[in-house]
Amino acid sequence: MKKHYIMAPGPTPVPVDVLLAGAKETIHHRTPQFLEIMEKTLDEARYLFQTSNRVYAFVSSGTGAMEAAVTNLVNPGEKAIVVVAGKFGERWKEICEAYGINVVEIALEWGEAVTPEQIEKAMKEHPDAKVIFTTHSETSTGTVIDLQAIAQITRNTDRVLVTDEVSGLLAEPLKMDEWGVDVVVAGSQKGIMMPPGLAFITLSKKAWEIVKNNKCPRYYFDLRYYEENYPDNPWTPAVNMIYMLNQSIKMIKEEGIENVWERHRILGEATRNAVKALGLELFSKRPGNVCTAVKVPAGLESKKITKLMRDKYGVTIAGGQGKISNTIFRIAHLGYVSLFDTISAISALEFTLHELGYPVKFGEGVRAAMETFHKEGVAG
Ligand SMILES: Cc1ncc(COP(=O)(O)O)c(C=O)c1O
Repeated sequence: MKKHYIMAPGPTPVPVDVLLAGAKETIHHRTPQFLEIMEKTLDEARYLFQTSNRVYAFVSSGTGAMEAAVTNLVNPGEKAIVVVAGKFGERWKEICEAYGINVVEIALEWGEAVTPEQIEKAMKEHPDAKVIFTTHSETSTGTVIDLQAIAQITRNTDRVLVTDEVSGLLAEPLKMDEWGVDVVVAGSQKGIMMPPGLAFITLSKKAWEIVKNNKCPRYYFDLRYYEENYPDNPWTPAVNMIYMLNQSIKMIKEEGIENVWERHRILGEATRNAVKALGLELFSKRPGNVCTAVKVPAGLESKKITKLMRDKYGVTIAGGQGKISNTIFRIAHLGYVSLFDTISAISALEFTLHELGYPVKFGEGVRAAMETFHKEGVAG
């Protein structure tokens, strides 16, 4: 018997109630019955983004929503400012380049967080770059940026601030309207506690003004179709996933979004304290609450750590990505995760490191995690 724990930053564990919500009869999507569910669900999805703007759901993974943001906001040949400090910043750049957009790159060391000053400088140097693409939680490095402070710089200008919240949503506080963020993209398989398959986008009025007349070639992700048909989907929606979304929003509302953010903060804190207690080093210069990126100790290999964790202990964590694939491993604390999932993951890490020859005193990481939960007032 092997019990499985997903402690990777997506897909994340899915609660049984969400799975069961999807296990209902598929009804036809162009019926008043389904439209009523769709309208109610999309309406309630605004809560996740803390926005009064409409939320649109695509049948795609998160990257689809990223592509939608690019093609609906920028034209080939135009400039866009793109922050690249990891794999997902790189993805913004690659999508832009695929459409012939002239990328003004803010290139940082992986693990660094872009500062508001760096954004401001790029805006001054490139007054013709109307759109700025950022990654709130850079999953590949476990880094969070100060999105609120960045939005403070863009909000009263003609610039449009786009943020990738594919992993950040619900793990990092986001108040789209209050902060003045223009465009947010997200995916179902992370903080929303669903399987992969849905992506989301929501836009401010300022962003919509661009979308309406943007000339960039697009079809499936042309937001004008989604707006014209809202709440209906221009193409076949993922009917059963909408049922699931309805259930997951219900659960998130029951917990309360501030409590969801706080739970992630505490899980992140416990994980960071645990790995530090084991003598390990964090990779990120500004660690976030989606996943903890840990430097692989000298003499060990990321692949061996993740393989042993998964194959022997049933705990799936993530290795590194791209150019840092062998430099780090990542333990997530994202979505449907409780303190005991984290404690289990840390104990599996202790067994694994010990078996691979790294000096571990059993329980030191677990103790630090437990002490954090106690100190934060959630246990003991
Ligand atoms: C920050 C971020 N952006 C984008 C993506 C891409 O999402 P997807 O794999 O759902 O297309 C991911 C996936 O891990 C992510 O973490």
